[in-house]
Amino acid sequence: MARKRSVPRFTVPSLTPEIGAQVAGILQLRLHALNDLALTLKHVHWNVVGPHFIGVHEMIDPQVDVVRAYVDEIAERIATLGTSVQGTPGALVAARTWDDYSIGRADTIAHLGALDVVYQGVITDHRKAADDTEELDPVTNDMLIGHLHQLELFHWFIRAHLENSAGALATEDDDTEKGAAKSGTEFDEEGAGVGDSGAAADAAIGRRSSAEAPGKK
Ligand SMILES: [Fe+2]
Repeated sequence: MARKRSVPRFTVPSLTPEIGAQVAGILQLRLHALNDLALTLKHVHWNVVGPHFIGVHEMIDPQVDVVRAYVDEIAERIATLGTSVQGTPGALVAARTWDDYSIGRADTIAHLGALDVVYQGVITDHRKAADDTEELDPVTNDMLIGHLHQLELFHWFIRAHLENSAGALATEDDDTEKGAAKSGTEFDEEGAGVGDSGAAADAAIGRRSSAEAPGKK
């Protein structure tokens, strides 16, 4: 949860210090969310295996670069608003409202299914932050809207791997990373004509923890 922030001694012109603190509080959780997303994307970059490895491995890094740039932009906006930035890993873990990414080494399509859920959470919360700052601070709102242009494009890059020619999404009924990873694996195996997709999918995700991750960031 966003921690209540002390009111700054000054903030940007035309905002009250109280509003500056309120906007910075909204941004602090977005900072944690995108820091978490950048680390999660790198984790996927290192842990994808199997067919299409190189395409997915190399697709991820440009997303990491953009998300890291957004992290810096958010942090500097918090400072500009006159408050201190909480940028340490401990602060992130203490404040976050979502679980750690739940999948280790796995097929590319399993990670893509799980990343669909991750991006859904990030984008939903980023859109809410944009809505919540629309009246308070149009400059912060504009920054968040700018992020959403690219984050939603990246989400499409992920989903395009999980979509069939009829426009159906393999993960459309999934709201957990593990469930989406399994749906992605089954989708891939159906396309490849492999037999017992459920058993193969179970084997593919068998090394993960049993904790269900909501994927909200
Ligand atoms: Fe790398």
